[in-house]
Amino acid sequence: MPVVYLNGEYLPLEEAKISVLDRGFLFADGVYEVIPAYGGNLLRLEEHMQRLQNSLNTIRLKNPLTSDQWLTILNKLLSENPSEDQSVYLQVTRGVAAKRNHGFPAEPKQTVFVMVNELSPVNKEELRPGVAAITLDDIRWKACNIKSISLLGNILLRQQAHDKNAAEAILIKDGIVTEGAASNVFAVINDVLLTPPTTSGLLAGITRDLIIELARKNDLVFAEHAFTEDELLKASEIWLTSSTYEILPVIELNGKPVANGQSGPIWERMIDIYQAYKAELRQGLAQ
Ligand code: PDD
Repeated sequence: MPVVYLNGEYLPLEEAKISVLDRGFLFADGVYEVIPAYGGNLLRLEEHMQRLQNSLNTIRLKNPLTSDQWLTILNKLLSENPSEDQSVYLQVTRGVAAKRNHGFPAEPKQTVFVMVNELSPVNKEELRPGVAAITLDDIRWKACNIKSISLLGNILLRQQAHDKNAAEAILIKDGIVTEGAASNVFAVINDVLLTPPTTSGLLAGITRDLIIELARKNDLVFAEHAFTEDELLKASEIWLTSSTYEILPVIELNGKPVANGQSGPIWERMIDIYQAYKAELRQGLAQ
């Protein structure tokens, strides 16, 4: 039975209970993070903590814990639930209020929940076959920069993709690509690796930021630039990126092969760079 953290206590998952009056349950009034850990080393912890802080600031909720307190909890759970690669899920809600009321409680007492799941090792050979994706109209709200636990739009879109035997939905707003239902999108268009800018109505993925950093460091031809659905349909490579996907090639879009229907040469290059980075992180040589 996995050990989880709930409001100051470490306890077995099945004993972790919250009130039905929790605003996370009633209103999806909360934010979350997913942080991968390789060999017990958290990937880009500072960036994840900064994004958590940004999400909390945007929903006007105080961070209930200091950075040191977060680190203590995450490290304790990683050691209590040992496995080579892990994924930390944490969420903070506006807690329990006496009555269901849309307005904020005067003095919210945040609910903090953290769990760790095993992350099945992602290697190049397993990623190379890639996945199918479909494009869908981005029906979500405008504040996609908040990593909100309110994910109804995202899950409906992801499920529509699954219903069409596709792994992910790539979302389109006014003809422009935003992101996946639970991932960011990169595409190689006219030999340039592109990803939409964060002003395009998307979540600034930590994996996305790391790939941008690695692309620049390794002199890949890269630009943070918006592209249209039409351009995406003609791309020579499409990738989905996230803490759980890492860098996943899309080999079929809307039932048609992407280029020759196989992962492309820029992906081959980037996945090697990314795996090398993970290897350094495992040894504690990167963050
Ligand atoms: N989701 N965009 C959306 C809408 C996402 O839900 C995610 C990740 C990303 C990529 O962010 P990152 O690289 O920081 O994982 C982009 C996580 C994995 C989830 O909801 O489980």
